[in-house]
This record gives sequence, structure tokens and C-alpha cells, in this order.
Amino acid sequence: MKKTVKHSNNTTWFNGLVTREDREKLHKHKGAVIWFTGLSASGKSTIAHHLEKRLYELGCSTYVFDGDNVRQGLCSDIGFDKKDRAENIRRIGEMSKLFVDAGIIAITAFISPYRKDRGKIKSLFSKEQFFEVFVACPIEVCAKRDPKGNYKKAFQGIIKNYTGVSAPYETPLSPDLVIFSDKTGAIEAADRVVGLLKKGNII
Ligand code: ADX
Repeated sequence: MKKTVKHSNNTTWFNGLVTREDREKLHKHKGAVIWFTGLSASGKSTIAHHLEKRLYELGCSTYVFDGDNVRQGLCSDIGFDKKDRAENIRRIGEMSKLFVDAGIIAITAFISPYRKDRGKIKSLFSKEQFFEVFVACPIEVCAKRDPKGNYKKAFQGIIKNYTGVSAPYETPLSPDLVIFSDKTGAIEAADRVVGLLKKGNII
């Protein structure tokens, strides 16, 4: 197996004069990550953006990282095989960590199909800071929605390694919340996540 080259030797983390706690006081809430996971077209992005709107109305500082958007910039150099998806998720995890340090509520909407990759991200945070939300939706429903036409192409074999069709999706074993998006509307789903954040004393 190819060894990953680490280029970050001889570096030291610099602690700033303003702490995460200081920034959290400024924001009047704590930093946290809401990590949505689920199939493409399961509703992750829609729920994530409704959640951001609700939190904005509550005066919270937030940012949504969305798979399709991030893959046009920060992760435009990587594809969809297992190794590349791991790198995609690693970058977003590290980015989210910086946002939490900034005292912001980071909302991420990535398929993140592998348990191992999600587990690694979870381990970057304290238990109180990380919320895994599984957006559960039958593949038939996702494929019927097919907003980008990708499922059709995946079933025809035009897109390879498509999650749920020709690549696996490993369901979370102990998520903080499960939303059955074929039965729950995006606004109600967002409200349930707000409830989770209140219960966890984030907001
Ligand atoms: S992840 O698996 O690495 O977490 P991510 O959430 O960033 O995926 O990107 C998923 C989006 O990329 C999908 O919503 C879809 O629009 C697009 N996409 C393109 N090719 C694939 C593929 N092979 N599998 C899944 N999604 C794909």
C-alpha cells in the first residue's frame, strides 16, 4: 500500500490571543458541527439550508458546506473512488474543525458513505460539538427524484461508482438523529435539528 507523505513536519500549532470561548461569547452560542449524511438526493442540502435559515433567524453564525459546491472549488481535484471520498471528507472535517474553533455552527451536507471516514471526523471533536444526522431515504425515492439526472446515468453505467447504485452507502450505526426524508418535510426536519442543538446547549 502506498504510504501517505506527510509534508507538515516541523510545524507547531500557534495558540492565538483570542480563544474559542471568547469567540463563542461574541456569537452568543457555541461552535458545533451538524454532519448530515445520506444518499444523493436524500434531501441533505435542502434540510441543511433550511436549518441555516432557522439558525440565522435565531441570530446564530453558521455556514453550510455542500458536497456539490465544495467539489467545484476546494475539492475540485478529487473524484469519487474510495480513497478520494476519504480525502474529500477529511478536508471538510478539518475545515469544520477550524469553523468550530471560530465559534461558528458548521453544517455539512456530504454523502460521506463510509463509516470509517465519518468516524475519523467525529474523533476530531468533543462529544458535545459533533452531531451526526442521518437523512434516511429509500434509494428508489432518491432515484425517482433524481434532480441532477445522475441516477439515470448511473443505472445506465455512464457514471461509475455511484453511491447506492454501483458504490456502497454504509448507514450510520448510532447517529444523533435520523430523519426519514420521504416522510418528514425539510422545515420540520430543520426544526428537529434546532431542538437537538438546544438540548445540547449549543444555542
Ligand atoms: S462524497 O461521497 O464524497 O461524500 P459528495 O457529497 O462530496 O460525495 O458529492 C456528492 C455529489 O456529487 C452528488 O450529489 C452528485 O451530484 C455528485 N456525484 C458525481 N459523481 C458521483 C458518484 N460517483 N457518486 C455519488 N455522487 C456523485
